[in-house]
Amino acid sequence: MSFDQSKWVWRNGEIIRWQDATTHVSAHALHYGSGVFEGIRCYATDAGPAVFRLDAHLDRFYASAGVYGLEIPYDRLELTEAIEELIRVHEFESCYLRPLCYFGSSSLSVHPAQCPVEVVILAWPWAPYLGAVGLERGVRVTVSPWKKFHSEMMPTTAKACGQYLNSILAVRDAFKRGFDEALLLNSEGHLAEGSGENLFIVRNGELITNDERESILVGITRDAVIRIARDLGHRVVTRAMTLEDLATADEAFFTGTAAEVTPIREVDGVEINGGRRGPVTESIQRVFFSAVAGREERYREWLHLVTQPLEMVTHD
Ligand SMILES: Cc1ncc(COP(=O)(O)O)c(C=O)c1O
Repeated sequence: MSFDQSKWVWRNGEIIRWQDATTHVSAHALHYGSGVFEGIRCYATDAGPAVFRLDAHLDRFYASAGVYGLEIPYDRLELTEAIEELIRVHEFESCYLRPLCYFGSSSLSVHPAQCPVEVVILAWPWAPYLGAVGLERGVRVTVSPWKKFHSEMMPTTAKACGQYLNSILAVRDAFKRGFDEALLLNSEGHLAEGSGENLFIVRNGELITNDERESILVGITRDAVIRIARDLGHRVVTRAMTLEDLATADEAFFTGTAAEVTPIREVDGVEINGGRRGPVTESIQRVFFSAVAGREERYREWLHLVTQPLEMVTHD
């Protein structure tokens, strides 16, 4: 990943140069992780760049902020325009977008009462998170020795900065042991999710995934995949998943904005589907990538097109 092509940042209502988008070392969020964020993808379509599930991401952004008392001083229209503007100034056809809202600098009391609320949005091109090869051939994962924190400890449905320390521990351990990604169990010993992805298992043509009762972040890609799978005629069951479910799975895959739909080909050295992407995963990927590219009429509502503003349209 590289920020090379990122020249601008939207900060507190204006677009500023990348190199000017700095924050002070006394910012509350830097010390305590007191911020919330979103990860959103914008895809190239024949009609121009289109932001995938923008409404759902904004819903979650405001909800996460609400949990931590961060009052975002911009409404949905302002944030939508900010995102559109950022894509336009970079002339990106596709990119990853990272809205972030955090407590800035004023005091380092744990209670952030006096701290200003800062809002920024970054944009940069980001290749498939678990690799283009991973998308086709699948990834090798390990069950992490680190458990996913319980939703009674921190609200797992909120996408908050400090909560990612749990994911960082898990993914660092997985990489150190030569795996592509970590799979975290929850405190009940059930499968929770990846360090930045939700989990699906396929058995006998049926899809199984879990939900917020299992201490997961309820992914927006997960929701899209559930709909795609049902439209393809698969039954989708939402329930707790165990290691045994994974051991006896025909197929398994991760979903996430960054990871998109990534097959899992091996768990701790045990192959799934002979170590190859399975047919159900492949058919879901095909529809998913076609939908994000604007080629599936029935999923058009998921795309927010970034059109040129009227004053930029040239007439000859
Ligand atoms: C811990 C975790 N779980 C699941 C997901 C998938 O969520 P989404 O599909 O909304 O990106 C993510 C990524 O945002 C994540 O960080």
